[in-house]
Amino acid sequence: MAGPLPVVTCSRPIIAPSILSADPLDIAGSVDLLKGEHDWIHMDIMDGHFVPNLSYGPSLVSACRKRWPNAVLDVHLMVVPPEDFIEPFALAGASILSVHHEATPHIHRVLQRIRDLGCSAGVTLNPGTPVELLKPVLHMADLVLVMSVNPGYGGQFFIPEVLEKIRLLCCWREAFEHSFLVEVDGGLGLDNVRQVTAAGCDVLVAGSSIFNSPDPARMVREMRAKAREGIISV
Ligand code: DX5
Ligand code: ZN
Repeated sequence: MAGPLPVVTCSRPIIAPSILSADPLDIAGSVDLLKGEHDWIHMDIMDGHFVPNLSYGPSLVSACRKRWPNAVLDVHLMVVPPEDFIEPFALAGASILSVHHEATPHIHRVLQRIRDLGCSAGVTLNPGTPVELLKPVLHMADLVLVMSVNPGYGGQFFIPEVLEKIRLLCCWREAFEHSFLVEVDGGLGLDNVRQVTAAGCDVLVAGSSIFNSPDPARMVREMRAKAREGIISV
């Protein structure tokens, strides 16, 4: 089963490399190249229906849990219906399970189920989905994952319009005394993490900018430094 609720165990910024951009023939080697500079491991689960791409299943999550028993496995479910996948991924060892609001008419029940299974519950929004739709469930989210690219692939360009979603979520979190973390996912690199954390983001997901760099560990260090600039600039 999953570990403890991890989302309160790290300080800002939290860096979550996405292994979608890791070497598919040597994912463990790619993670080892991070030399422990990261905080979470972001795992993109794609079913070829909700998004036009396929990635991996619960067996990779359980292999990562076995390899890194104390890792925070941040599992991003891009699947329909998510109801069918929550239990297998929770049993495989996911720490956090994030589900797309667009993937189910029963987001309230799904988030409750994720927590009942001992995982932290995340809700995710595509770039074209209004953040207002989340208001009824923000009280039961440990994480809100704001997509800054259209889901399905790594290596896309950041969509700047999502910055307003981050700001709104942080306002609502303070006004209604919620406790979720705000995560941004897609197209992040040294050129934009500063503005993303200045807008209020807590967790940065990056795949290609980290794993396509010659020194992934150094890239995470530099990304953290830039992100901290954004935090102190507010
Ligand atoms: C896209 C995934 C993202 C992606 C990020 O559907 O959810 O996590 O892997 O990759 P980059 O950082 O390359 O945009
Ligand atoms: Zn993702």
